[in-house]
Formats: sequence, C-alpha cells, structure tokens
Amino acid sequence: MSPDVAPIYLDHAATTPVDPRVARRIADVLALPLGNAAAVHAPGLAAHQLVEVSRAQVASLIGATAEDIVFTSGATESNNLAITGTARLALQRGAKPHLVTLATEHKSVLEPLRALQAQGVMVSILRPGTDGLLDPQSLAAALRPETALVCLLHVNNETGVAQDVPALAAVCAARGVPLHLDCCQSAGKLPVAVRDVALLSFTAHKLGGPQGIGALYVSPGHRGASRRRCWAVATSAVCAPGHSPRTRSQALDSPPSLPPRSAKPSRSGSPRCATGSGPGCRACPARCSTRIRSRALRTSST
Ligand SMILES: Cc1ncc(COP(=O)(O)O)c(C=O)c1O
Repeated sequence: MSPDVAPIYLDHAATTPVDPRVARRIADVLALPLGNAAAVHAPGLAAHQLVEVSRAQVASLIGATAEDIVFTSGATESNNLAITGTARLALQRGAKPHLVTLATEHKSVLEPLRALQAQGVMVSILRPGTDGLLDPQSLAAALRPETALVCLLHVNNETGVAQDVPALAAVCAARGVPLHLDCCQSAGKLPVAVRDVALLSFTAHKLGGPQGIGALYVSPGHRGASRRRCWAVATSAVCAPGHSPRTRSQALDSPPSLPPRSAKPSRSGSPRCATGSGPGCRACPARCSTRIRSRALRTSST
C-alpha cells in the first residue's frame, strides 16, 4: 500500500472507530471540574450524577432499568464476572455447579470456563450444528439438575451467526436455569430482549464508544434468587481502593445538567451503608453498582 493512501478499516466486528460525537463528549466531560464519584462533596456528587445518567442511558439500550447495570472495563470483564461470580457462589453454598456453553463462544467466555473446569467445576462445551446454531434440543439434553448457568453468544463475532435466543431461552426457563448472553455484537444493532436473560454482557467499543468500557446487566430475578452472591461480589469490590467510576462514565455521559444527588451522611459523616457491611463502606443498594469491580474475579483472558 502506498504510504500516502489512508488505510480503510473495515473490521467493525472487532472494534469500531470512536464516533466523533462520543470523542467530543469525552473531551467535554474531561474538562469539567469533577471530583471522585465516590466522594460526598459537591464535585464528587456531580461526578456520581453523571455516572447515574450514563447508567440510565446504557440500560435503555437493552430495555433494562438503570439499577440492573454494572459498569465494567469491557465485555471481557462482564463475561468473567457473570461466569465466575455464578460458579463461586454455588461453590460457597456447597453445590457442585455445572455450566454449559458452546464451542464457538468468545474466549472471554471459554477461558474462565476452562479455568473453572481446571478447578473441578463441571463444564459442558456443546458443538453447534454446521450452520453454527445451537439446537434447542441439544441444549435441553445437556442441562442437569445442578446446571447453574448457560452462557451463549447472541451473534458470533467471527461468523455473524445469530442464535435463536427465544427458543434457547425457553429451554432454560423451562428448566429454571439462568441464561447469560454475550451481546457484544448485537447490542444496539439487533433487538436484545433482557426479558429472557439473567445476565447480559456488552461493550462500548463495538458501538462507536471507546475501548475499556463495558457493562453487565443483572436481572432483578437473578439478583433476587442470588442476592447474597450479588452483594458478596459487590461489597468486596465496592470497598476496593483506587476505583474511579468517573473514568468509566466520561465516555457515555451527558453534560452535568442535573442537580447533584443529595447524600445522606451518617453521624460519622460517611454515607450510610444499607448492607450493614460496616462503617465507611458505601455498598448501599442505591450506589453499589457504580463501584462494583470484579478485579478479584477477573481471569487473564482478553
Ligand atoms: C463476542 C465478544 N465477546 C466479548 C468481547 C470482549 O469485549 P471487550 O473487548 O470489551 O473486553 C468481544 C470483543 O472482541 C466480542 O466480540
């Protein structure tokens, strides 16, 4: 290629260029005098407000509500959090979890599953048909009483094959098995119904956003069934030092037009912790997902 000919980048399944409108918004937010979103002073509260506006915007993309969205560093982290979090809670409860996936999944799903398998967790890796599709009957046959999660790609990142999510979700629902969908390639492009799923991963950089920002949807029903697990993950991660949710929010935020959220400090001056996790811990239900980090759960997969 001649050096004066600009390359034409076409692999938008791998990543999309950052939309100029997103780049401008990032620059605008970076220029704001924001504080640490975990702080209770005005600049911190303004940053927190931006995060919450972003959370609502991201939730609307998949028809979810804001409180169901956990910000992550990308779909790799979302997938790891969904898989290892589910398996570890089952292990903590003394169960012997069984997880099911498809051989053609992204490695951010396959690698944590293989890591769990190496630790003795039962994992079934199913083969798709020659058309790339998972036969609902094959899925049904693979499910066991101890199956804790089925992990599937909605649209395959290499072949473009779209699984029949309603049919596969119906199989899972009939057996009471939570379904985790990796919707990196479909979110914002195809209809994605969170109605059928317990967990759903997606990422900004397939949609004109920057790399390094993603989300995990956790359905209320899944949280209700396993609230202890969710809070166990949240509380340890929330209290992890050095987390700055503001950096995540900057890519997707609106300008800070909303009034700052009013904090309700405890007598000690720290926000109240609704989980009772201890003084200074800010893992209350209204704020926790801002701070959830899965650093402890993340594997080396990329
Ligand atoms: C299907 C799928 N899942 C997960 C990922 C990982 O996403 P991220 O780069 O945000 O970690 C990708 C990105 O290549 C992908 O295509």
